[in-house]
Amino acid sequence: MNSSIPPSSADANKAHPFLDKPGEKISGLFDEIAPRYDLLNRVLSFNIDVWWRHQAVKSLQLKPGHKVLDACCGTGDLSMAALAAEPNLDVIGSDFSIQMLLTGDRKRRQKAGHFKGPQLVHADTLDLPFPDNTFDGAMVGFGMRNVANLPAGLRELSRVLKPGGRLMVLEFTPMTHRWLRPFSDWYQGKVLPGIGNLLSGSKVKAYSYLDESVKDWPDGDRFAEVIRRTPLHAVKWRPLFPGNVAVHEAVKA
Ligand SMILES: C[S@@+](CC[C@H](N)C(=O)[O-])C[C@H]1O[C@@H](n2cnc3c(N)ncnc32)[C@H](O)[C@@H]1O
Repeated sequence: MNSSIPPSSADANKAHPFLDKPGEKISGLFDEIAPRYDLLNRVLSFNIDVWWRHQAVKSLQLKPGHKVLDACCGTGDLSMAALAAEPNLDVIGSDFSIQMLLTGDRKRRQKAGHFKGPQLVHADTLDLPFPDNTFDGAMVGFGMRNVANLPAGLRELSRVLKPGGRLMVLEFTPMTHRWLRPFSDWYQGKVLPGIGNLLSGSKVKAYSYLDESVKDWPDGDRFAEVIRRTPLHAVKWRPLFPGNVAVHEAVKA
């Protein structure tokens, strides 16, 4: 768990061996599920994940010519959502899983000709290979939860943002509608790991890790507090339908 976050109620039930987020284990986990990652996102979210990304990129207030970082870009879907919103962007996607990047690269080449894809870079979000003050916007979709040191990851993202640049983090959050919580807990705790582990063929039980890492993740207000302790300010967050996903945004001073 991220050591600087107050412990949550899920700590007592911690079981997955990757919850401490060792970099090489997490990149290996995503290497393993890369071939089925996009398909499982669509199936397990009933396709809503596509809409989540399109909603989330609005927080960056993208303008033609902006230089945007998609950290923990995986197969590049958040980059694609940003480029769909504003085609005239310079988007760089970075990730430490080679297989996720290769899957993203194949997608990018399939769309080439009628869609400009992101530039893809192999990099750890804790040690980004970009100078200070490079980007107008930085975004992370379902990746921040996997970064071993959350405050350090946020500081690194802030470092590469230009002053006035915007950060957007799209991440799971504890279900915000109390009456939907029992269903959401059942779906996330039983259905999602069952179907995800089966269809991905994951030997390391990647979709059990997903469930447990979400339970281990701070709620929207607590995550906003973590962001406020970095050089980022004007922190806001909002849940997205049906309430199990949140968009956090902040600005570099
Ligand atoms: C759940 S996937 C999200 C992919 C994509 N952003 C999306 O919206 O579908 C999480 C990604 O974060 C990457 N990741 C996790 N920790 C990372 C780190 N410290 N540095 C770089 N990439 C990381 C993983 O390799 C994986 O591709």
